[in-house]
Amino acid sequence: MCGIIGYIGNKNSMPIIIEGLKKLEYRGYDSTGIAILDKDKLFIAKCKSRISDLEGLLKKRNILGAVGLGHTRWATHGKPSKVNAHPHTDRFKRIIVVHNGIIENFNNLKKDLEKDGCKFASETDTEVVAHLISKFYKGNLEDAVRKALRKIKGSYALGIISRDDPDKIVAVRHDSPLAIGLGKQENFIVSDVSAILNHTKKVIYLHDDQIAVVTKDAVQISDLKGNTVPKKVDTISYDIEEVQKGGFAHFMLKEIYEQPQVLSRIISHYVTAEGAIRFESFNIESSFLKKIENLVIIACGTAYHASLIGKYIIESFVRIPVGVDFGSEFRYRNPVMREKTLVIAISQSGETADTLAAVREAKKNKVKVLSICNVLGSSLTRESDATIYTHAGPEISVASTKAYTAQIMVLYLLGLYLAELKKTLSKNHINKAIDVLKSIPSKQEEILGNSRNIKEIAKKHLHFGAFLYLGRNINFPTALEGALKLKEISYIPTEGYAAGEMKHGPIALIDEYRAVVCIANDSFIFNKMASNIQEILARQGKIIAIATSGNKQIKDYVKEVIFIPRVDEQFSPLITIIPLQLLAYYIASLKGYDVDKPRNLAKSVTVE
Ligand code: F6R
Repeated sequence: MCGIIGYIGNKNSMPIIIEGLKKLEYRGYDSTGIAILDKDKLFIAKCKSRISDLEGLLKKRNILGAVGLGHTRWATHGKPSKVNAHPHTDRFKRIIVVHNGIIENFNNLKKDLEKDGCKFASETDTEVVAHLISKFYKGNLEDAVRKALRKIKGSYALGIISRDDPDKIVAVRHDSPLAIGLGKQENFIVSDVSAILNHTKKVIYLHDDQIAVVTKDAVQISDLKGNTVPKKVDTISYDIEEVQKGGFAHFMLKEIYEQPQVLSRIISHYVTAEGAIRFESFNIESSFLKKIENLVIIACGTAYHASLIGKYIIESFVRIPVGVDFGSEFRYRNPVMREKTLVIAISQSGETADTLAAVREAKKNKVKVLSICNVLGSSLTRESDATIYTHAGPEISVASTKAYTAQIMVLYLLGLYLAELKKTLSKNHINKAIDVLKSIPSKQEEILGNSRNIKEIAKKHLHFGAFLYLGRNINFPTALEGALKLKEISYIPTEGYAAGEMKHGPIALIDEYRAVVCIANDSFIFNKMASNIQEILARQGKIIAIATSGNKQIKDYVKEVIFIPRVDEQFSPLITIIPLQLLAYYIASLKGYDVDKPRNLAKSVTVE
């Protein structure tokens, strides 16, 4: 989604902002722009294309100025175009605004402002913010921002500068992330801290409805009424190398290969040397957890698929009902929640608007919320009663891979933890399960070491116009996730289905032009999948099977088989997904697509 970077200091801000914008590129955008302030001299450049094009435009000009704002836009109101790109200004070009989010009442505000004589240059909701601040401006920028915010409804992270008040950046957030980076005689505002890592690791995460006044030497934070708010400085825990490709062609491939390391890290974080599972800063009383009668897991996209796997895991380990819901459905559904319900919210970014709204719905019903999240200090972690971090490191590729397996690993550990509390599994059983989990990273390494075979299969199938993914039992969600990975980066129409449902509809699609990926790992219901395979073959569907190494039967009827190491079916989703991620990656990259930045998609969906 949209990205914000702002700089104020002693240096020339333009190259710093361009460099920051490049770091924000991965989040998905369709246009970009920059504003540089040199005392009261303002320079603005925008373009409806890549940041490198904007950089090209700027190289021809000698633009100097120690204050600046940059923005990557992902269109919501108004098509992607140069005029709609941010920054936006008021009619006097004295207030300059960049914005992430949506101003919901922009239409009414616009009508009122037009009555006051404002002329709008763009179709965006953002432009009203610039005009509104200008209307209230009486010599102090933050006061004008406060007054404007009283009128605005919606979600926003805003960076604001003014030609009349040029020694500060004003930053404010409501339901959209924004942080302040602290340097020496220079400070930053940023919507994603990875964009300023080579300048500073010290950051202040702004909370909702806090206003920061950022100068080159100081940061002051206050609430909407103007009361000073204490500052909490956090240190970013990862390094710049983690947000670089490190020799891989794409971040997605790098992140696929990081999975064994991530899973080992999670185990060593949460499993003690004695084999006990411990979650740090777990603010939910174990006496409450012992009593819970049902779980509801809420998430979106890939995290929703991890949640579905969580349902199989926790129902089997803990024997309580687990419901799984999309954030976007849960929030409007008037769901049933009881005193002994625990809501679990899963999100890589911790900023997904629908997941956050669902969490707020749960909190309104006084239900406890546990989040599983990758991003320290994100909105979700702040709004939950407790958080288990996935420790996957920054995920840059829009298509989520390592965050997914990290979420599943945490769900296994959480399931075992709850099973111990509720005494639904013996200690011996739990120990054996932990041993299996410890063996997973090396099994993933084995598949990654044989990726050439998967690339060959990708080459043979990239011309197919449609794919169907089938799985059963705990690997039904794996089929959904494999299908999502392929469709989002290769744009091939792809569906995931529970194999048992094939006869109830999707079989109508099968012919020689349909590639069907069958997750046929060893299972107590392998024979059921074997029957599905026969039915597909009878209709000339082209099958790619994922099967357990040592399965001799499958080669008799399927030509293209990806063998995976043997693992107990209950833990297999951490293994079966690896070849599907690689298959999607190779198909999309062989087709020549920009794998890390698929069209129309954004890394974190901070608007509804
Ligand atoms: C798919 C993908 C998205 C996200 C979804 C939720 O590869 O990345 O489907 O999983 O937008 O995002 P988070 O996990 O940040 O809440």
